[in-house]
Amino acid sequence: MTEPAKATSLQETELLVTGIRELVTNDPSLERGSLGLLHNAWVLVRGDRIAAVGDGTPPAAPRRLDVGGRCVLPGFVDSHTHLLFAGDRSEEFAARMRGEAYSGGGIRVTVRDTRAASDAALRAHTAALVAECHSQGTTTLEMKSGYGLTVADEARLLRLAAEFTDEITFLGAHAVPAEYADDPDAYVDLVCERMLPQCAPLAKWVDVFCEPHSSAAFDADQTSRVLEAATQYGLRPRLHGAQLGPGPGPELAVRFHAASVDHSTYLSDADIDRLAAAAPHDGPVVTFMPIVEFSTRHPYPDARRPLDAGVTVALASDCNPGTCFSSSMPLTVAMAVRDLGMTPDEAIWAATAGGAAALRRTDIGILRPGARADLALLDAPSRIHLAYRPGVPLSSTLLLGGVPTPAAAPLFTGPNAEPTRTTTEGSPA
Ligand code: NIG
Ligand code: FE
Repeated sequence: MTEPAKATSLQETELLVTGIRELVTNDPSLERGSLGLLHNAWVLVRGDRIAAVGDGTPPAAPRRLDVGGRCVLPGFVDSHTHLLFAGDRSEEFAARMRGEAYSGGGIRVTVRDTRAASDAALRAHTAALVAECHSQGTTTLEMKSGYGLTVADEARLLRLAAEFTDEITFLGAHAVPAEYADDPDAYVDLVCERMLPQCAPLAKWVDVFCEPHSSAAFDADQTSRVLEAATQYGLRPRLHGAQLGPGPGPELAVRFHAASVDHSTYLSDADIDRLAAAAPHDGPVVTFMPIVEFSTRHPYPDARRPLDAGVTVALASDCNPGTCFSSSMPLTVAMAVRDLGMTPDEAIWAATAGGAAALRRTDIGILRPGARADLALLDAPSRIHLAYRPGVPLSSTLLLGGVPTPAAAPLFTGPNAEPTRTTTEGSPA
């Protein structure tokens, strides 16, 4: 007796997206270029999942939204952010633009301000940043701790992160805090012996700022100690490596089977060889975040080197108060094309499927049956406009876990107009 009722309620949650002039699916089984492109396409959504994708005549569905010849792509997967913090470092940015170097020391300023902030203030600030990300087409966010640097403050940031995402990274080894400046190894002891037992159950990933070129960050031995301890607690590694100069981070990422090595502006030839050798065995993804180089006046990395060696490349924002206070994945794509040597298609893949690979996810960054219904809308006829029209607000989130955002509201056709919700509510990013 319950079967027909179930079937009806399932059908009622179906939603058909039509009028897609160009659909980026990233589905390799479609074999239409690296992005699995479809034209004159549609996407059928059931609940929070994609039920079907196709071109030509769409199936019938109880609710329909028509994007009027625009481009649709998987929501951006921003696999590297530092969105939990308080305070403002715009003066530090202005000083860098006058010629001062970035050394990582400003992290301690944000640590001071973050420790002093209430939970409510941090929550409100992060919620606003998450809404900013969603409004530009980002549908999955990784989020790191790292501006607490005490047992209680790191655990607090991880708990707050869980209000926004499942992709939570413990970054207790972000910087040696001021009170341990004379004894960094004692801080590493604190991380391994007291922070990890409290923080590991609250996170999925561990990250370390492995950077011998910063006096506030961690060398190879310290990084290895943290990664060894964290993996004992079940955390999976990812690393900040070779951001300010060549260093041991990429090699450690390979050795510890990290999911990704990020920043990596200064990869050596030996690093590329190691990463390429590891690539067929699920080796680290290299994540580039070019707005960091923009905001620190560092040279841009050459993405062709890992790409041409067969290493998977992701693009992320690194949104943080110091080196990159921008959450813009579209600008990241444009800069990767203009300054990192990527083609528009490589950059779009890296900002969607590449981010998913960096998080070891197969349910996002791709539009195929069974994947999460996270869709970004581009107010343009072609995906290439993402790089072709830098700085123009063309992209937005259309569906977040199958739920229409305010950007979708005017696109509903027929009498079945959909109630929408704001993008900060409900399901995690
Ligand atoms: O990703 N490299 C270390 N961490 C941040 C910078 C944080 C800061 O300066 O506050 C980054 O660039
Ligand atoms: Fe970072």
